[in-house]
Amino acid sequence: MSGKAAPAWQPPRGLADAELEGRIARLRGDLGEELVILGHHYQSDAVIGQVDLTGDSLKLSQEAARMTRARHIVFCGVRFMAETASILAGSGQSVHLPEPGAGCPMADMAAPDELRTCWRELSERWGDKLLPVTYVNSSAEVKAFCGRRGGAACTSANAKKVLAWALDQGRRVLFLPDRHLGANAALDLGLQPEELCLWRRRPGKLLGAEPRSRVILWDGYCPVHVDFTKGDIKSARSSHPGCVVMVHPECPREVVEAADASGSTEQIIAEAERLPAGSVLVVGTEINLVRRLARQCGDKTVLPLAERRSACPDMARTNLGSLLACLEGLDEGAGLVRVPAGEVEGARQALERMMLLT
Ligand code: 13P
Ligand code: SF4
Repeated sequence: MSGKAAPAWQPPRGLADAELEGRIARLRGDLGEELVILGHHYQSDAVIGQVDLTGDSLKLSQEAARMTRARHIVFCGVRFMAETASILAGSGQSVHLPEPGAGCPMADMAAPDELRTCWRELSERWGDKLLPVTYVNSSAEVKAFCGRRGGAACTSANAKKVLAWALDQGRRVLFLPDRHLGANAALDLGLQPEELCLWRRRPGKLLGAEPRSRVILWDGYCPVHVDFTKGDIKSARSSHPGCVVMVHPECPREVVEAADASGSTEQIIAEAERLPAGSVLVVGTEINLVRRLARQCGDKTVLPLAERRSACPDMARTNLGSLLACLEGLDEGAGLVRVPAGEVEGARQALERMMLLT
């Protein structure tokens, strides 16, 4: 959810960053191994400077599942990521999101009641030869829906693997919520465009379905990545001849095809590290990551594909003040993420199937 709920605890006002950092450091020191702070690559430098581990959605899910010694996991990212950590966490561990209003508009595009309507209609048309695969950018309830039906979750790093696993079972696959990640994974696996069709969630209508349809794409998208265009890549190539262009697979197909490579945030970092000194890398993803890469890869030039259209407002919500307030209020439940008990088991099944495949 990207609701704008105000935190019950209040970030301290008027403190300089150095004071906030000092107080965070003292709390981290006091809590020692009882506390782990995770940060997604899209977080600001200030926040990344305070975390124990950074990663893409896959790496952070795997790390969260391994953090058995930590009593508190504080997740600097957005809600679906913290929910995933909470689903994978052991009993006696609590997961906290410093900014309760940090959601993901794409995850909100898959409402559970719309999913039930879609599933009913697809089942009437194709019987039980259907399998749901959900991108982790979705609610716990959507993950549970998929897990209970034998389906799996996936991230941008393993979408192709998970989709191949689902198709290998001889089933049609409903892929949600990101139509672009779903199309990119399916077409990279060698499916023909005619084998894809689209579920329009509003008003609830299947478009382009044929007997040979194998992947049904939900019509969600990321408002940040959907805005990158082929034209952006064309102008990058003409301003920087010989540059390498890499984009996130949440971008539309024509953008991924015009780029040299696509991959998750962790895969983008690996590519930046792999390129020889002197290379120019143009990156189509969230701006905090691109700017950090530009600073860290000093012997290469790293540039944003479209600087003014690259910010994720939800990722930008977390700051030093909200992190400190969350840490100070851990025992009072500041930012505590609660996944409804009835959804935990199904959602965990979907996530564990993904982990086994990865
Ligand atoms: P990654 O898993 O690649 O980090 O992506 C998460 C995300 O939300 C991208 O918009
Ligand atoms: Fe969601 Fe897009 Fe922000 Fe990622 S960048 S958290 S998909 S809105």
